[in-house]
Amino acid sequence: MKILLLGKNGQVGWELQRALQPLGQVIALDRTMNENGLCGDLADFDQIQNVFEKVQPAIVVNAAAYTAVDKAESDQETVDQINHLAVKKLAELCKLQNCLLIHYSTDYVFNGEGETAWSENDQSEPVNFYGQTKRLGEIAIEQSGCAYINFRTSWVYGTYGHNFIKTMLKLASSRKELSIINDQIGAPTGAALIADVTCQALKYYLLVDLDQQKQLQGHYHLASTGRCSWYEYAQFIFDLAKQKGQNLTIQKVNPIETSAYPTPAKRPLNSRLNTMKLQTNFKIHLPHWRLGVAQVLEEIIQ
Ligand SMILES: NC(=O)c1ccc[n+]([C@@H]2O[C@H](COP(=O)([O-])OP(=O)(O)OC[C@H]3O[C@@H](n4cnc5c(N)ncnc54)[C@H](OP(=O)(O)O)[C@@H]3O)[C@@H](O)[C@H]2O)c1
Repeated sequence: MKILLLGKNGQVGWELQRALQPLGQVIALDRTMNENGLCGDLADFDQIQNVFEKVQPAIVVNAAAYTAVDKAESDQETVDQINHLAVKKLAELCKLQNCLLIHYSTDYVFNGEGETAWSENDQSEPVNFYGQTKRLGEIAIEQSGCAYINFRTSWVYGTYGHNFIKTMLKLASSRKELSIINDQIGAPTGAALIADVTCQALKYYLLVDLDQQKQLQGHYHLASTGRCSWYEYAQFIFDLAKQKGQNLTIQKVNPIETSAYPTPAKRPLNSRLNTMKLQTNFKIHLPHWRLGVAQVLEEIIQ
């Protein structure tokens, strides 16, 4: 079975390169041309079409996306191209070639109001351009009629790539005082967990009959259990890094409100995701966010 992985060098893509291996032959691409003349640039759809023709995948895993949330506000044409229009074409190709599309989306499809964890069927209402294009990508997948599983996740970090843990460690090694947002609530979710859950779900999906597969297709919320604010997340990182012997200069951390830290893109306050559907349908256990953060922190420090 051939599995086409797009976005192999992102946080999630990197972990998928490892995790997908036992499931089949993985053809992992980034946006450069590889030695076999295959290029996974979502901005160049002729190349993607060429990849489909040459590879004939049974499963496409799309971990590529435009993820620079603030930059997205001023780079709208490119963001729409990658997160929406390319996803639409990808889904149409999957439908045409009868292959399963695994895609990733975000809690930013919701408006962030209230304190209840979002369920898959809750009304989407993105508050920034990145979220809007991610939702448009989802709608395009729904409308294509292809077989798909779309994992909406949140606050992604990994050993590989840029993320909050690395930024905090860097800042805490040069500053004495930091102000961190305390009114946005979510669950940090590891790229390794996302990749492993993807494969566990895929394995389950491949073992059931066609009717059951149809039942399983759709949107799923995938996040660690527990919840925290960015301030609590940062405190956990600093405390653990100190315990592990890191020489941090940070002495004071101030909790602040989102309104005190204006950014080009508005952020939802409530990023809680209800993961019951994923846990029930695919018999998956999700760990507490602190476990994965502690492990990655140790890997980064080492
Ligand atoms: N990061 C988060 O906090 C977060 C939260 C919720 C949901 N998500 C979703 O989770 C998924 C994975 O995110 P991530 O954190 O792994 O993102 P990431 O680390 O930013 O990786 C995204 C990857 O997409 C690639 N890419 C960008 N434009 C491309 C193009 N034109 N053609 C092909 N590849 C392109 C990038 O390639 P280059 O390396 O060449 O730039 C990068 O490798 C995405 O769908 C994202 O929307 C992420």
